[in-house]
Amino acid sequence: MEKTRGRQRLRRVLITSAVVTGVLVAAVGGGFAWLWTGADVSTVGKVRFSQRMAVPPLAESTVGPDGTRVFDLRMQSGETEFEDGRPTPTWGFNGSYLGPTLRAERGERVKVRVRNTLDEASTVHWHGMHLPAAMDGGPHQMVAAGGAWAPRWKVDQPAATLWYHPHPHGATEQHVQRGLAGLFLIDDARSRQLALPKKYGVDDLPVIVQDVTFDGARFDHGHSFLAKTGFLGKRTMVNGTLDPYREVGDERVRLRLLNASTARIYTFGFDDDRAFDLVGTDGGLLERPAAMNRIQLSPGERAEVVVRMRPDERTVLRSYPWRAGNNWEKRFDGGDDSFDVLELRAAHRLRPSPALPARLGEPELPDGTDAAHGRFFELRRSGINGKPMAMDRIDETVVRGTAETWTLRNGGDMTHNFHVHDVQFRVLEVNGREPEPALRGRKDTVAIPVGTTMKIALRFDGPADPDTPYMYHCHLLAHEDHGMMGQFVVVGPGQRAGRPGVHPGH
Ligand code: C2O
Ligand code: CU
Ligand code: CU
Repeated sequence: MEKTRGRQRLRRVLITSAVVTGVLVAAVGGGFAWLWTGADVSTVGKVRFSQRMAVPPLAESTVGPDGTRVFDLRMQSGETEFEDGRPTPTWGFNGSYLGPTLRAERGERVKVRVRNTLDEASTVHWHGMHLPAAMDGGPHQMVAAGGAWAPRWKVDQPAATLWYHPHPHGATEQHVQRGLAGLFLIDDARSRQLALPKKYGVDDLPVIVQDVTFDGARFDHGHSFLAKTGFLGKRTMVNGTLDPYREVGDERVRLRLLNASTARIYTFGFDDDRAFDLVGTDGGLLERPAAMNRIQLSPGERAEVVVRMRPDERTVLRSYPWRAGNNWEKRFDGGDDSFDVLELRAAHRLRPSPALPARLGEPELPDGTDAAHGRFFELRRSGINGKPMAMDRIDETVVRGTAETWTLRNGGDMTHNFHVHDVQFRVLEVNGREPEPALRGRKDTVAIPVGTTMKIALRFDGPADPDTPYMYHCHLLAHEDHGMMGQFVVVGPGQRAGRPGVHPGH
């Protein structure tokens, strides 16, 4: 009797646990399937293109008696109506959202009078600019709430599309998301001569792409717990315009694309797959145009492309799913997402544009053969080479005037990119192979997908400043804020690194 009852109880327990397990498996599986199918975002075919794309104004400047071009930038808070009647609290430079386009000539001396009228300390970093470390606007050049800062330097690099944005350690993502970003264009004698579209706002259009999510009128900057890259917005804006279109009156139009998103990677192309010519990368013009129909940009990267238009047509700049990266989690990092970004509307009559020049810029980059030093960087969200960022620790010391090769390795399980302050570099190899055409120009930021080893060549021309570091970091801003950043100083021959101070806003 006892035995039978025992066996019955055992049977009941087994059946119950089997049922419970089954239900759990179904729930987990169903939950996963639900997360999986809900994980991709697409605005393709859903964007109304109802607002004319804004073009950031060119910043006014004055030229002082010593020839220095002086700009004023005021960091301020305000409200922006991205849609009529719905004011969103935002930050901007000289306005409520984004900032004016600064423009200077190679060889010119510039000075920017920065005023911070926010109630938080911040910085202004000149991304892609070759300048002294103390002028760089990294986390060591904090501008206190209510404070001012006036960096000056001589522009000494080829024509390029650079940008500026805050860089306070631990809060860069927030400050950029609220709207602090702008372009800094450099011209040179050669770029002024070239037959490239160059009427700013007419056939030469800045295209600052950001992703956003609204919660009512406010920005929702929440991260999905599944996304390892950081914040992923559900819609895109160009130059702060939602649902943007722009009319085009020329046969050829140049788009200066900037990925100003904090984590999202875009793969730009057109809705009809037309080819366009890549003419410039982060730090300047390519040697010659490269025809393609997709260009991938990770946060911080720029590309200058020239697209050809036919009278009366409309074409949409679209962002397609990632091509690279075979890790399945990419779905949760925006890898399967697609966006209709900007509609170009060609006029009935288009002004003829000259054919693209066969030769564009000079790379002015080291080729790795004269490298004095090699360094290795293992990229992990927890820190580069195993160390999270520390404001008072110099990680690398490089000698002024020397070239180096750096090997960047992503052996982890999530996508990163890599940005180096002060210099432009050449990509020598990607997993031992020659880089694709889009990586053959001057670069200051590159995507490093999972499983990638990349070798780059850089030259540090100084000036030397053993106490003031430049940064290198992942430009997925949540990763950077989390400590995926390191510091290097440029020293004179025989000099040693000093000790950087920890400067709170002063
Ligand atoms: Cu665009 Cu260190 O940043
Ligand atoms: Cu930078
Ligand atoms: Cu990263």
